[in-house]
Amino acid sequence: MSSPRHFVTLLDLSGTEFRNLIRRAGELKRLQPGSEPLKNKVLGMIFEKSSTRTRVSFETAMIQFGGSAIFLSPRDTQLGRGEPIEDSARVLSRMLDCIMLRTHHHETVEIFARHSRVPVINGLTDRFHPCQLLADMQTYFEARGDIGGRTVAWIGDGNNMCQTYVHAAQLLDFKLRIACPPSYAPEPNLIAEAGAQVEVLRDPYRAARDADLVVTDVWASMGQEEERHARAEAFRGYCVDCSVMDVAKPDAVFMHCLPAHRGEEVVAEVLEGPQSLVWDEAENRLHAQKALLELLLLR
Ligand code: CP
Ligand code: NVA
Repeated sequence: MSSPRHFVTLLDLSGTEFRNLIRRAGELKRLQPGSEPLKNKVLGMIFEKSSTRTRVSFETAMIQFGGSAIFLSPRDTQLGRGEPIEDSARVLSRMLDCIMLRTHHHETVEIFARHSRVPVINGLTDRFHPCQLLADMQTYFEARGDIGGRTVAWIGDGNNMCQTYVHAAQLLDFKLRIACPPSYAPEPNLIAEAGAQVEVLRDPYRAARDADLVVTDVWASMGQEEERHARAEAFRGYCVDCSVMDVAKPDAVFMHCLPAHRGEEVVAEVLEGPQSLVWDEAENRLHAQKALLELLLLR
């Protein structure tokens, strides 16, 4: 049996594969659902954390492709009662055709993938959110063309989304300027691996100056709810407001993976404004993940 292809981080793709996937996602967006390339295939979805977009986009993708998806919560399965991840992976991958996990610890997805007979997809961990970057890049490409050589400003927490932007910069050759408070920077080894094209700064205006894309995310991610007040204090000054967008290029666009907290990391005027692509970005989760499922399951 050949070993399955997993999608645990963005670096499981080459730059060429990433660009091909974006192109295919665009084609799938234009096509009406009709053919059923994943007929009789079943995707298992394990969610340790809440989700709206990830759950619905994967489930819809499977249904439109002629297959189906099963939602699995640790609360109602043996996963939540301490059955080892390795055992769960071995058992579930003998029944399912593909497994998506959203977990607290990134290591859980890595262990699961090592013991799975079928492709494993990272649906968000504390370190990375690669599915979101497929949609973000599709959205940028459809609005402004290839992102290679452009400048992206990340304002706020050096979190799972930020760290996935670091991987995307490496794969697609864009410059990434991250503005974050000192204790909230991305992991230093990731920045070092990315080389000169990724820069970590303090000042959001320096990061956003002449940027082509401005991106942010919540200040307290899932699992960090208790830090919310301390984080709100630390991130004061890191809100994407009109003054930040004003220093970016005139045709710059704004993105946010959602859910957003208006008045915290972004003001409503920017989120709802003409430069914001957030609704296309959310829709593209569906198209980009269809392209991913094709790549992993139909190769
Ligand atoms: N952006 C994103 O992953 O949204 P959900 O948490 O709703 O899945
Ligand atoms: N950084 C956020 C992303 C949510 C899609 C979190 O992990 O909660």
